[in-house]
Amino acid sequence: MNADLLITHASQLLTIPSHFNGPQRGDRLGDLGLIEDGALAIDGESIVAVGLTSDLAQRFSAAQTIDAGGRVVMPGFVDPHTHVVWAGDRANEFEQRIAGATYMQIMHAGGGIMSTVRQTRAASVDQLIEQTRARLDRMLMHGTTTAEAKTGYGLETQAELRMLEAIQRLDAEHPIDLVPTFLGAHAIPAEYKGREDEYTDLVVKEMLPAVASLITHHSSLFCDVFCEAGAFALEQSRRILQKAKELGFALKIHVDEFEPLHGTRLGVELGAVSVDHVVTTPADEIELLGHSPTIAVSLPGTPFGLAQCEYTPAQAILAAGGALAIATDLNPGTTWCESMQMIVALACRYLRLTQAQALAAATINAAHAIGRGGSVGSIEPGKLADALIMDVNDYRSIGYRYGTNLVRTVIKRGRIVYSNAGGLA
Ligand code: NIG
Ligand code: FE
Repeated sequence: MNADLLITHASQLLTIPSHFNGPQRGDRLGDLGLIEDGALAIDGESIVAVGLTSDLAQRFSAAQTIDAGGRVVMPGFVDPHTHVVWAGDRANEFEQRIAGATYMQIMHAGGGIMSTVRQTRAASVDQLIEQTRARLDRMLMHGTTTAEAKTGYGLETQAELRMLEAIQRLDAEHPIDLVPTFLGAHAIPAEYKGREDEYTDLVVKEMLPAVASLITHHSSLFCDVFCEAGAFALEQSRRILQKAKELGFALKIHVDEFEPLHGTRLGVELGAVSVDHVVTTPADEIELLGHSPTIAVSLPGTPFGLAQCEYTPAQAILAAGGALAIATDLNPGTTWCESMQMIVALACRYLRLTQAQALAAATINAAHAIGRGGSVGSIEPGKLADALIMDVNDYRSIGYRYGTNLVRTVIKRGRIVYSNAGGLA
């Protein structure tokens, strides 16, 4: 049989399969579907066969063969929660936080999200694209081949639409596939201070219908809300998400990052695809989550970036039978981290996931958390050929080692889009 590309001699080929066409849940998280001396065959953009090198090398005649040379081959990372589109930076606020100011204090003083909103509103779409492209390039070099991307630094209809335009154009031009999320309810903009319900009205009556017109039969869109003290209260979050659901959006919700407002219960009730952060979540809501199809997306880079000690109670979520994914939360305020390898390292330490669990949470479960579990997140025939050759021979080195990039080659939709195999100049 003919193929465009054959990758052979993976010391460990991690296929990381879906379970029953869904995420790996509870104590079944961590199924790597590992094949020793594995190989995969790629034709066009898709994986056509997976198996032993001895078998595939015989069955396929390929235009190009890459010998992985006894390294780990795995699915491209999927980053299911990012605020990757923004202008400027907040290095000054980080300095204030080192000196003792809290994230919420800075936000209440007019900085925080609003500071990035001002910089983003002032940027043209081309400037936004240019600044974001550099981040996407670094994500790709660190192995991310699909990512979610939120709006939320416009907070007025036209500025939110400009962010969506930037996401759509970057999705078309950049190798990373982007899944867009409308987050007009990211913060109460300064001009609506004390008039939170009026801003909620604006989101419900003006922004959501304007954004919903971008949903077509072949393009889905998520709607997300930052349900948190100082951002959107539970009832405001409910109004926005309910309206979004009526308009055909799939739902996500930021919950329990700092204070528990019962957003997890709300997300489960409304059938959200994911609830994200999930740090201060009460035990009864974890139980509820564990018995629901809603995926918990943990963002361990955020407490780490804020130098806080409280992380997602991942063990309790798994004990309740829940589905867990991990993401960077890449944003200029709490955690400017472009590397899912770093998130795997943090998840091993602070969520106490094994390397196998963290890798499944960062690939197949992450794909399901953005509605792409059918096309990416695992190395299975029929899926997009998104794969990484890692510069290690045992998957347990991923997460154990951190702070250097272990990616050797990135393949996206069957094409080699990054390689560092050349070494130093
Ligand atoms: O997920 N929680 C809200 N949004 C981000 C922070 C965004 C920012 O500070 O710019 C988060 O942590
Ligand atoms: Fe976030």
